[in-house]
Amino acid sequence: MKIGIIKETRPGERRVALTPSAASDLIAKGFEVVVESGAGLDSHFTDEQYRETGAVIADKKQVFEQADVIVKINPPSDEDLPLFRQGQILAGMLFPYNNGELIKQLADKGVTAFAMELIPRISRAQNMDVLSSQSNLAGYKAVIIGADALEKIFPLMMTAAGTIKPARVLIYGVGVAGLQAIATAKRLGAVVEATDIRPETKEEAESLGAKFIQVEDESLKDISEGGYAKEASEEFLRKQKEAVDKSLFQADLVITTALVMGRKAPRLITEEQIRQMKRGAVIVDMAVEQGGNVELSKPDKIIEKHGVKIIGKTNLPSLLAVNASELYAKNMYNFLTFLMPEGQPVINLEDEIIDGTLTVKDGEIRKS
Ligand code: NAI
Repeated sequence: MKIGIIKETRPGERRVALTPSAASDLIAKGFEVVVESGAGLDSHFTDEQYRETGAVIADKKQVFEQADVIVKINPPSDEDLPLFRQGQILAGMLFPYNNGELIKQLADKGVTAFAMELIPRISRAQNMDVLSSQSNLAGYKAVIIGADALEKIFPLMMTAAGTIKPARVLIYGVGVAGLQAIATAKRLGAVVEATDIRPETKEEAESLGAKFIQVEDESLKDISEGGYAKEASEEFLRKQKEAVDKSLFQADLVITTALVMGRKAPRLITEEQIRQMKRGAVIVDMAVEQGGNVELSKPDKIIEKHGVKIIGKTNLPSLLAVNASELYAKNMYNFLTFLMPEGQPVINLEDEIIDGTLTVKDGEIRKS
């Protein structure tokens, strides 16, 4: 089987779906690899590095003509869609529930497509989980961006001219991104508080040195489903505001990471709350692409209102393209070798990983 890597076309995307190291591992397993010239350059992997692994460099049209499997990060663009051919396999983040038209076009082409973001949250699939590998890096970068925008330092500093108090960081959502944000902010010396709707996150947040703000509510008993949070009730969101407001109004940096699978992100901070925050505070809304946790945030904009900077940066993993590509490529390698254990695809619908990710099978739509 020949695996094809093409250059991502999403504006601002710097990652590549397979690195030279992952290509080399696939070739060692007996696969062939064909790479679009320049596909890895934005993440600093040269054609020469791919060539050294035994991969072939080609132009995009040739990759589509030759490859049995196309690997991607983002959904294929309108420019790439016509190049797919009958029987080809596609693996990448496809978001089928928001991309009905794209899925239909892939089906019309007779493609078999796997949505990598739908890898189930089971321990067997952890090493294929692209959402986790990318969110982890995004959580780190959100703190770095926030720290850079803040006109204050993070650590306690005692100097001859006086003592500087540590910055206070508040994190909403203690999932993969939130946990890394806690760890990063702690390493930089901040005092960190965190809150989440899933009660089990308390222990995880505390183990990294954050103070957990617990919101008591009956409705939280069965709030987790398949590793994801369900939508919180209005009543819960009101109680959450009450419990967290004191910390929010004292915070220097706020990172919001709260997501609910398949839904718009919950609105956790309103303009009225921003009005009561400290002047000079910074908010990084990591959920901005999913509708935002913060009332004033806008994708790829820094809004300054009521003395607070609200940063809404999309595609944070792309800003760490080297590491993000390395981890994504490892996830992809694990998925491809699972799908093709003896070199040929084994599409066993009884398997949770296949059933969970298989979006189009030989032109038939399974998820949209
Ligand atoms: P996510 O990106 O879907 O959501 C981020 C966080 O926001 C979650 O912790 C969620 O509980 C929280 N949240 C949702 N609504 C909220 C609200 N109204 N207020 C405050 N917080 C809210 O979640 P993520 O980071 O992708 O993963 C969540 C958990 O799933 C992980 O912590 C881990 O325990 C588990 N997981 C398990 C995996 C496996 O076993 N293979 C792989 C990945 C995650």
